[in-house]
Parts: sequence; C-alpha cells; structure tokens
Amino acid sequence: MTASDLPRVRLVVLGGDGIGPEVARAAVQVLRVAIASEPLVIEIEDHAIGGAAIEAHGEPLPPATLAACLAADAVFLGAVGDSRFDRAPKRPESALLGLRKALGVFANLRPVRAHPALADTSPLRAEKLRGVDLLFVRELVGGLYFGTPRGRTDHDGKRSAVDTLLYDEHEIRRTLEVAFRAAKKRKRKVTQIDKANVLATSALWREVADEVAKDFPNVTLEHQLVDSAALRLLTDPASFDVLVTENLFGDILTDEAAALAGSLGLLPSASIGSGRPALFGPVHGSAPDLAGRDLANPLGAILSMAMLLRHGLELEAPALAIERAVDEVLASGARTRDLGGDLATSAMTTAVISRLESRG
Ligand code: IPM
Ligand code: MG
Repeated sequence: MTASDLPRVRLVVLGGDGIGPEVARAAVQVLRVAIASEPLVIEIEDHAIGGAAIEAHGEPLPPATLAACLAADAVFLGAVGDSRFDRAPKRPESALLGLRKALGVFANLRPVRAHPALADTSPLRAEKLRGVDLLFVRELVGGLYFGTPRGRTDHDGKRSAVDTLLYDEHEIRRTLEVAFRAAKKRKRKVTQIDKANVLATSALWREVADEVAKDFPNVTLEHQLVDSAALRLLTDPASFDVLVTENLFGDILTDEAAALAGSLGLLPSASIGSGRPALFGPVHGSAPDLAGRDLANPLGAILSMAMLLRHGLELEAPALAIERAVDEVLASGARTRDLGGDLATSAMTTAVISRLESRG
C-alpha cells in the first residue's frame, strides 16, 4: 500500500492566543510520533482564532476558520484570551463559544486524576487524593452562556444587565446520557450537580436525571447541590466518579478540581456532540505572562491530543500510549514550572516523545 491509498484524516489546529500556539505545537509533535505506525495520513491545517484572528483578520472567528473546522475530522484548540481585545466588539473568547455552538459539541468531558507522583504539588493532603479519578461532563452550548435576552439594559441613566438561564429537556437529557454512558465504563456512579433548592432549571435537571437513570439500572445516580459539591471536591474527592452539570457550574467546578490534579496545566478536555468533528484542547487559558517563553506546561494539550485520538478518531492504542508516556514522565520526576520544577515546554515535550519512542 502506498501513502496515497491510506485513509486521510483532516485535523484543524487553532493555536489561538498566549501559550495556545506553543502547547498546540507540542501536542502536534507528540501526535505525529504516536501515530507514526498507524495506517493513515494526517493532514494538519492551522487557522487563526481569538485575539490572534482579530489582529490578522479583524474578527475572532473568521469565516475561513469556521469553514475549515466544519470540514475537518477533528479540531484542536490551544487557548483564546487576550486582554488587548477585552473591549473589542467581539472578545476573543466569543470565538470559542461560537465554535462550540457551530460544531454542536454539547458535552465537555474533563477528566481529573490525581497522579500519585504529584501528591506534593496539590494543596490537598496526599491521603485525600488517593484514588481520585473523576470525569466531569459539563453541558457546553446552553445555559447562562447562551440564553437570551442578554446584555445591558440601562434605563434613565441607571445601569443594569441581564443574562438568561434556560434549558430544555432535550439539552439536559443528551448531556446526562453522555455521563451515564461514561459511568457504565467506569465506577458506575453519576453525581448530578445543581442548585435545585433555588433554580427552576435545576429542578428540571433533577427530574430528567431521574428519568435517564431508569435506562441505566447498573449506574447509581445521586443529586448534589453545587455549593456542597464544591466543598466535597476538597473534603472527599475520591467519593466521586462521573460528575455532570450545567455550563456555568461546570466551568467553575473544573477549575477547582484542577487543584486535585496538581495544576490546571495538566487538564485535558474533549467537547463532543452527536457527530463529527469534535473539539479538543487543554482546560487552561492563554496565560499571557508565560507566552513565548517556553515555560508553559504542555501536558494538558498533549493529553487532549490523546482524547482527540480516542474520541475524535477512534484510535485507542496511540491514545493510551500517550497517556502512559505522560504518566511515566511524571513518575520520573519531570516538572514544569507550574508543578514546582524548571523544565521548559520543549524539554517536557521531548521527554514525552522519548518515552513514546522507547515503547516502539
Ligand atoms: C473554559 C473557559 C471558557 C469557558 C472561557 C475561555 C470562555 O474558561 O473552557 O473553561 O468559560 O467555557
Ligand atoms: Mg473555565
């Protein structure tokens, strides 16, 4: 077979802002090594997004970027966010929200594991971290992020603003189904997180969760209020398996949970919908203070590339190989700055690649 007979996979890479381009580059380097012996040809296209796209094309999500993403097999995003454009008509972050909506990626998977070798890096005591292996399923294209009306509603010189929290049962059900299906392959426990003692939308989440649970008799469902869930994440994190929640609560709780892993720089994510392409990338932001200095932790991006292989391209073996290589590198004591060490982005990437290569 020649290369021209092999299946082609189109991957769009959106570096974005700050450290986004450098961690995306690291992840692509690792990807190339991980799939070297797979029978496929990967075509990678880079496109602009966020502040970088405002600078180059006058808008955060240019039509060419969106069209390329829609035509891709999978999309990888570094990070968006640039304070120079915070007052622009459309902020850099709006590109990410627009892209999520356009791709229809309604469920955001954010796994959080406490790596034993990193117990000292977490603010929590090592014994609290034992066995912490969580999967957040965050609803991603609804709720307060998208509800209308929204915006400023000033009247007679008095400033006011409105955001709308709206969910319909279809949006809730499909997200819960992702959580239950994932739980079936894990410890078979779903914690549905809401504010049902105050919010009408939360009461609906509970109702629908109870209905979905009937289709998954081997999975246990519990409901928990978001404030007490935030506390339990610190007092008894190992008691969770899959956590499912609405958009804003998921945004907040996943940053909190990053403390369990040791650093936000380690967290990967996959945003999936009903069809392709899905969207992958680290949970961390653009970290402008680190940008261009070879100081960022590339592991969140590299682990996101593993999620892209698994969920986007259905290539489990190279996904697992990357995850094992990262585990081994961390176990060997390699640490970037956020983990209390002094390894550069490039050196950490090389370390992961050497592990991958030594596995053959
Ligand atoms: C995240 C980020 C985004 C979000 C921002 C950049 C809009 O914080 O992916 O968690 O709030 O969804
Ligand atoms: Mg966030």
